[in-house]
Amino acid sequence: MSGGIDTRVCLAGIELRNPVLGASGTFGYGSEFEAFFDLRRIGGFVAKSLTLEPRWGNPPPRIAEAPSGMLNAISIENIGVAAFLEEKLPRVPDGVAVIASCFGTESAEYAELAARLSSSPRVAGIEINASCPHVKSGGIEFGQDASLLAELVRRVREATRLPLLVKLSPNVTRIADMAMTCEDAGADGISLINAVQAMEVDVETRRPVLSNILGGLSGPAIRPIALRMVWQVSQAVKIPVCGIGGILTADDAVKFLLCGASAVQVGTANYLNPLAALEIAEGIQSYAERHGFARVADLTGALETRSV
Ligand SMILES: Cc1cc2nc3c(=O)[nH]c(=O)nc-3n(C[C@H](O)[C@H](O)[C@H](O)COP(=O)(O)O)c2cc1C
Repeated sequence: MSGGIDTRVCLAGIELRNPVLGASGTFGYGSEFEAFFDLRRIGGFVAKSLTLEPRWGNPPPRIAEAPSGMLNAISIENIGVAAFLEEKLPRVPDGVAVIASCFGTESAEYAELAARLSSSPRVAGIEINASCPHVKSGGIEFGQDASLLAELVRRVREATRLPLLVKLSPNVTRIADMAMTCEDAGADGISLINAVQAMEVDVETRRPVLSNILGGLSGPAIRPIALRMVWQVSQAVKIPVCGIGGILTADDAVKFLLCGASAVQVGTANYLNPLAALEIAEGIQSYAERHGFARVADLTGALETRSV
């Protein structure tokens, strides 16, 4: 509770103080943001995607500006699951929901990661990254193939009893079908969207801007696509949806809640303003108060679609 209004939401069995999470890859391992605000004032965060062993990313240039957004091809650079559990997780204050993101090239790797992460009482949930748009193998390979995706979700489901979210790629023809596949395979919730596969070219050098050639487009440029997909998926599945994509302001976040999301993740906005997630959480509360909602959770799916 906060003031007169109940800001709490439940995402796939994860109790959150409010519906705002830092998005994977843009919020580090949480401690990076502690200099800016008390993490207990947002719902929590999804940590950078983890692999079984530490992993270097692509060589630079791996980030570039894009119209109303950014391109990245970092490629899951991370400290590995052991260092996350031993060094990073204990530094997160109690009461902050930490969702661990898993990445691998085979479903067995994802399952092993989920099992190891489940041994910690500080991990509130698992998010399967089945959608990284710029790694050579893994990630999006699963997210673009319904039968591989089903197998992946089943394997991870067997490996953990923690709430299980699957993060979908927008780089598919029918997003609702992919979400239904995850629901049938045992997922507790769907996160969407990851970055949109993209590229940019420098005409002077006649070279791709990113060393990897392909990258992922994120930021406000993708928000209308993300909203459309969150809407379609919310209509298609019964499990909760976490909305991601170009959220810069509280109004942006409210749009995702109205379209059916139970919570949201803030990504690229963190690079523009490290207080973004906090300001968005506070702004959602003000919006709900202004519009006469007793609970922030009541915003979910409150989109008015009847014609006037
Ligand atoms: C630099 C960068 C790194 C990212 N790394 C990851 C990652 O490790 N795992 C993941 O699931 N998503 C990753 N993402 C995707 C974001 O979590 C998010 O889905 C996407 O950027 C869209 O949201 P946004 O427009 O708010 O940034 C990354 C995004 C950026 C910009």
